[in-house]
Amino acid sequence: MAKQPEPIKKSDVIWMDGKLVPWDDAKIHVLTHSFHYGVAVFEGIRCYAQPDGRGAIFRLREHVKRLFESAHICLMEMPYTEAQVFEACKEVMRANKMNEGYLRPIAYFSEGLMGVGAVNPVRLSVATWHWGAYLGDEGMKKGIRVKVSSYTRMHMNSDPTRAKVTGHYLNSVLAKREALLAGYDEAVLLDQQGYVGEATGENLFLLRGGILYTPPAAGGILEGITRETILRIAKDKGLQVEERRFSRDYLYCADEAFLCGTAAEITPIREVDGRRIGQGETGPTTKEIQATFFRAVRGQEPRYNEWLTYL
Ligand SMILES: Cc1ncc(COP(=O)(O)O)c(C=O)c1O
Repeated sequence: MAKQPEPIKKSDVIWMDGKLVPWDDAKIHVLTHSFHYGVAVFEGIRCYAQPDGRGAIFRLREHVKRLFESAHICLMEMPYTEAQVFEACKEVMRANKMNEGYLRPIAYFSEGLMGVGAVNPVRLSVATWHWGAYLGDEGMKKGIRVKVSSYTRMHMNSDPTRAKVTGHYLNSVLAKREALLAGYDEAVLLDQQGYVGEATGENLFLLRGGILYTPPAAGGILEGITRETILRIAKDKGLQVEERRFSRDYLYCADEAFLCGTAAEITPIREVDGRRIGQGETGPTTKEIQATFFRAVRGQEPRYNEWLTYL
């Protein structure tokens, strides 16, 4: 078996259906509808410690909005308002006395009725725990090795890829495990036309000839909030940015490449399918974007302070 992540570091309580319950009591029934049919919508959010010691959640508003859009796409009536979920995220951090951590809101159809078309009451919880660099500390510094997957990303007409839904992650899990078993760190999936789509939990950027490229949001990828953050940072730096499709061989010939997502933050790519990317290390533009990103999430870039929600 490939190397496994560290065991989850439990926090004290989880926000569950409006109450704070002890971590070990946050359980659901085995006949939970979403558990059987893969229709739970969720988010991954990070909270970062700020220079004054307080915690601030990064782009909370955008994450809550996407959660509600995912629910809307999946015909899921949310039992709370966006404002209530926004507050729940802050509340669970405060209740756990944490100023830094990963947050996981998830909404799902509970038990009662069975069958694919059944509509059960929707429940919602928000958990938080400490989570370090998703693709490893070394990967974050020196870059990771990725493999173009034998699995194709879903077509937007078979699975609504804009929505962040648990069922989509079968595709991600299979691609990720295939890559790990082959000795790589992460998989990159191509879309139905054969263009580069995204990784199993991250969007992808490459730099070539001084231009930053990323696949278009309309192309059936999850429209990442970190992706949008990077587009803004890159434009503010005066970099030329193009959202356009490219093939795997274009990626092989990149001067620099990196993955981005809430969990993975900005993780450089040093190799794709045995081809070295650039000098086989974190490139200078990636380093610069990474540095600005980490300053922004920690309140050290005043122009981006609107992205922070203090606890
Ligand atoms: C498939 C996929 N693509 C991209 C992303 C990156 O999205 P974000 O930057 O909003 O975390 C994620 C993570 O949520 C993901 O699961």
